[in-house]
Amino acid sequence: MSRFLRPQQGLGWLDQRMPRQVLLSGPTPLTRWVDASPGEFWIKRDDLSHPLYGGNKVRKLEYILAHALNKGVQRIVTFGGLGTHHGVATTIFGRTLGLATTVILFDQPRTQVVEESLALLQNWGAELWFRGSLTRTLLSYALESRLRHPQAMRLFAGGSSIEGGQAFVRAAFELGLQVEQGLMSRPDRLVVAVGSSATVAGLATGCALMGWSTRVTGIRVAPARLGFFDACTLATVRKQANALSQYWLSWGAPRHQLCIDWDDDEFGLGYGLSTPQGTDAEQLFRSQLGVPLDPTYTAKAFAGALKWRAQRPDETLLYWHSLSSVPFEQILYQPISARIPSLSLDSTLFRGGQGGKFS
Ligand SMILES: Cc1ncc(COP(=O)(O)O)c(C=O)c1O
Repeated sequence: MSRFLRPQQGLGWLDQRMPRQVLLSGPTPLTRWVDASPGEFWIKRDDLSHPLYGGNKVRKLEYILAHALNKGVQRIVTFGGLGTHHGVATTIFGRTLGLATTVILFDQPRTQVVEESLALLQNWGAELWFRGSLTRTLLSYALESRLRHPQAMRLFAGGSSIEGGQAFVRAAFELGLQVEQGLMSRPDRLVVAVGSSATVAGLATGCALMGWSTRVTGIRVAPARLGFFDACTLATVRKQANALSQYWLSWGAPRHQLCIDWDDDEFGLGYGLSTPQGTDAEQLFRSQLGVPLDPTYTAKAFAGALKWRAQRPDETLLYWHSLSSVPFEQILYQPISARIPSLSLDSTLFRGGQGGKFS
């Protein structure tokens, strides 16, 4: 028997040990990217993770929402930038399961994708607190939210809890099954955007548990430091991956070697600010696949993937696509069975907006 975990075995271990609220209808597809280089180039289509709202957050929420329901909470408090995809996904899927959401927001450049996320937060009835700076947002999350919603579950930005990370260990096993089925060769390199880090940490842990030597390459899109603290660095990612590994070792998994590469070069001038390479990557992706990228995460990540591709044309490369591609109009106004009080906005920004839509 192999020293490492087979994908099916890994999935079984997770199912025995962690409650999961199934949201994905199945494995997300793999699409081959055709170019002139000799190695294969694949896209993992997490944009299609759910027909209502896709992207990487849906995977995390399978474990996060199961945990919240098990705890019996009725509200989740989280935070993020104005365009937080994590906030949107938590609000939408939380609401479909009867959970209310409070999202505390800090400023970021207001692109179209950001405006759409804000509108979705409002539309799906999140309680929104606009706090401007990141510092005020963190204070509000740490202190104010405990006073105003003492019973709520607090969830860190990006859903990067242990549950969020294990969701991407699961995602790596899902890919492992697809490789076993012959849908693609085992990737030499897997490229993904890194914000709050659970996605890359979980994928790296999952690949290592299967004994793969795949280099999981994180393209940093968030600030490396926040004040005195490391925020998004190779060290913070390793810390998260090590924490996930510890769970697996305590469950009896074999020792494994994490293979993480780090790429700082696509970040540009700041979080949410577009880069010329990202803009080019966006156009190429849309023209080949008809699928959008966003300037904050996926344009930079795909620009990184193209760069690694050019540098190592013989490798089998997989770009993990993490942004929902469900059109904005299709996400709005979904009929839902709500047992949640009406939208409450803690800001002048949306006063007079579509507030009571789902009340
Ligand atoms: C579209 C998209 N891709 C990638 C990421 C990064 O994932 P993580 O926060 O797990 O690093 C995010 C996080 O918000 C995201 O919204």
